[in-house]
Amino acid sequence: MTRRPAALPQDPPRRLFVRTWGCQMNVYDSSRMQDLLRPLGFRPAESPEAADMVILNTCHIREKASEKLFSELGRLRAIKAQREAAGGKFMIAVAGCVAQAEGEEILARAPFVDLVTGPQSYHRLPEMVARVARAGGAAIETDFAAEEKFDRLAEAGGAQGITAFLTVQEGCDKFCTFCVVPYTRGAEISRPMAAVLAEARALVEAGAREITLIGQNVNAWHGAGPDGKPATLAALIRAVAEIPGSLRVRYTTSHPLEMDAALIAAHAEEPKLMPWLHLPVQSGSDRTLRAMNRRHTAADYLRIVGALRAARPDIGLSTDFIVGFPGETDADFQATLDLVRAVGFAAAFSFKYSARPGTPAAGLPGQVPDDVADARLAALQALLSCQQRDFNAAMLGRTVPVLWTGPGRHPGQVAGRTPWLQPVHMTAPPGLIGQQTMVRIRAVLPNSLAAEPTEGDHFSEPHAA
Ligand code: SAH
Ligand code: SF4
Ligand code: F3S
Repeated sequence: MTRRPAALPQDPPRRLFVRTWGCQMNVYDSSRMQDLLRPLGFRPAESPEAADMVILNTCHIREKASEKLFSELGRLRAIKAQREAAGGKFMIAVAGCVAQAEGEEILARAPFVDLVTGPQSYHRLPEMVARVARAGGAAIETDFAAEEKFDRLAEAGGAQGITAFLTVQEGCDKFCTFCVVPYTRGAEISRPMAAVLAEARALVEAGAREITLIGQNVNAWHGAGPDGKPATLAALIRAVAEIPGSLRVRYTTSHPLEMDAALIAAHAEEPKLMPWLHLPVQSGSDRTLRAMNRRHTAADYLRIVGALRAARPDIGLSTDFIVGFPGETDADFQATLDLVRAVGFAAAFSFKYSARPGTPAAGLPGQVPDDVADARLAALQALLSCQQRDFNAAMLGRTVPVLWTGPGRHPGQVAGRTPWLQPVHMTAPPGLIGQQTMVRIRAVLPNSLAAEPTEGDHFSEPHAA
């Protein structure tokens, strides 16, 4: 009897559809899962209906995010039943942070799910798929072996386009009292600099011009440097910026506690590092920040902002807020509005507190009534949108560098981004895609900026040979 190689299922399904919720880490992981399954014959499908296998890459951060999984599973169950009635196969996999947090529960509540995998087990996907295809029955992997994951994922490689994400750090040791991430992603681990640079070079070779280094706490990155000793994110940013062909570097998401002097100095000194920082603050009230276990005060945050602006006066700041955290009073909320006014944000995400099972804050007294939290959220968002509008309006008439990333919505246009992540469009030939050019902002629209070439610049199609 001959044995088949373990990685090859007897009758492999061929079309894969991946649905992604949550943060950039999930977006990155989804593309890596597609890379990993390509050698098994999987090609992308346009929709679940057109697929033989569907992966739901889930997010557990707020209740609404997790609930999306179960409504989507209901839809997939119907597709699977139809497919099987016709003698075919349909594999359903649940990945991501809900899988990590509620793996067993998912299989109990939705027994038609074939495979459950936590974020640290993706490198085992091909073997799990093969196992399910061969033997039937459900497979579940929710171990924490992040270092192994990185070693194995690095082999997968893959093109992402002009702008690319690269995971350099994963997990979180901060344990904010509201947050599930330390439980779903495990302890902080950093990839070594050499591994990150090898992947960055491959991305640039495949056409990437902007690389965003990502991690749940990306500025806590302390991967091994060239001498084997822990290096800083600032050193990593400078090394990525040195790769010939790379034009822009970004990093996200950062924690105020880890905003060290070297990183702030990199904003002053490294021209390829974009003048943009997403730095979640969550609240402007020291009392609330303490209850959240953020380990910084509002004044600490303002000090960091001051240092960043001294280093790079045109830096745009973005942040996250939670309103209605247990015990939050009107005075606490006013302190949040005061902080917003003191900083002036270019963009922000704000959320109503969502009690997450297993987190310390879920059991705190003083849960804030929904209507109070809703009113605070509306007031905060009104102020933040005002600031965002002002930030964008100030672009009118300025000459700024834009990295062109693809065709525009209308024929004859190209689309791109400013250093501050604002979408821009301009009438220009497609040859501009992949380049960074200086353009003048001629109009500020509600969701984008319109640009024109600067004086003396005109774009013409290359002559046909
Ligand atoms: N590591 C990052 C991102 C965490 S998740 C950080 O430290 O900020 C992204 C955002 O979701 C958080 O910044 C927070 O504002 C929000 N968030 C996290 N848990 C939440 C909860 N239980 N309820 C509401 N918002 C939450
Ligand atoms: Fe969650 Fe806090 Fe860690 Fe961010 S720093 S991932 S909010 S525990
Ligand atoms: Fe969500 Fe997990 Fe990211 S909970 S925000 S997908 S780390």
